[in-house]
Amino acid sequence: MKEAGVASNGWKVHNPSGRKRVVVTKELPGNGWLEILAAADARIEYGTETRILNEKDIADAIGGACDGAIGQLTEPWGDTLFAALQQAGGTVYSNYAVGYDNVDVAAATSRGIAVGNTPGVLTEATAEMAVALTISAARRVPEADAFMRGHTYEGWLPTMFLGEMLTRKTVGVIGAGRIGSAYAAMMVEGFKMKLIYYDTTRNLDLETYVRDYSTFLTKRGKPPVTVSRAATIEEVLAKADVVSLHPPLNETTRHLINAKRLGLMKKNAILVNTARGPIIDEAALVAHCRKNPQFKAGLDVYEDEPEMKPGLSSLSNVVLVPHIASATRWTRQAMASLAASNVAGILRGWPVSNDPDRVLDFVEGKAPSAAPSIINAEALGLPNASF
Ligand code: DGY
Repeated sequence: MKEAGVASNGWKVHNPSGRKRVVVTKELPGNGWLEILAAADARIEYGTETRILNEKDIADAIGGACDGAIGQLTEPWGDTLFAALQQAGGTVYSNYAVGYDNVDVAAATSRGIAVGNTPGVLTEATAEMAVALTISAARRVPEADAFMRGHTYEGWLPTMFLGEMLTRKTVGVIGAGRIGSAYAAMMVEGFKMKLIYYDTTRNLDLETYVRDYSTFLTKRGKPPVTVSRAATIEEVLAKADVVSLHPPLNETTRHLINAKRLGLMKKNAILVNTARGPIIDEAALVAHCRKNPQFKAGLDVYEDEPEMKPGLSSLSNVVLVPHIASATRWTRQAMASLAASNVAGILRGWPVSNDPDRVLDFVEGKAPSAAPSIINAEALGLPNASF
């Protein structure tokens, strides 16, 4: 591990003699990412401030000569920054996230800049947090925790903190991609829930998984579980006891859950969001939770992150955590390795893997000579890796 120095702007420097300059806007966990970039002959300069950086901060850090960059989902990676990166000689940017709604991929592509992300290593961590929020909301864990810490517990009572049972109820998933399917499987297996999902694409793997699990249960004399693909989002909202949101954020999913759709949900339903805040009209959610005290929500993400809409934080039927669904040590280090491998792979002129089933090879074991996940590889005509 090469010692870190400090650049004139106060950013830390790793491998100062590296011939390529890579700017990383926030320090990432572990050392693996630094080693991956140093092995690609990069001098790595990384920010250590906790404050969210703005366009100017980042453009200043890019400066006059920069070969590649790694940035955060909180930063506006649009044409201004890609122009700065292009002028500095940069050819690659990786988001330290699987989601990339903060990135103008078309702008990067038009400037010949490859854009990476970090799929496949957040799946279980994010699904686990969605499960945690579901249980916490259903069983009122934060309220009960605050009650204990307030030393207000005077003894067991039959009516204290009554919540919702999950077992054998119906779980709804909107967006049945990798994370949505992992959450669905956890809820179906863990709580024997029936699954109803909405996605523009049918997820046959998920359906088969649930049916096979149902066969397993019935062979043991237990009640079956079921799976159905809903024709509309409305159908999921009306039928499910718990609804977890997992679509990407784009113009078709902004305010997907609005006042009208909240009104279709059961009065005692639970709504969970670990995807992106603007998928829910948060002001409408505040009004709905106020009007329906039996309704519950578990949120990891917020419409105007890091702000919350007025009234949200004083609602006792809402569980709130600060966008930490992927925050397990393993996951965040794996994301760092993938982001670094995206940048290092392009700087080394390696082909692109883009196979979510192979991402673990980049994290554990012998990493292939490839960039793991480049979103605009096809548009840029980057070659595919053949393993
Ligand atoms: C992502 O990667 O998109 C997540 O939101 C980070 O936890």
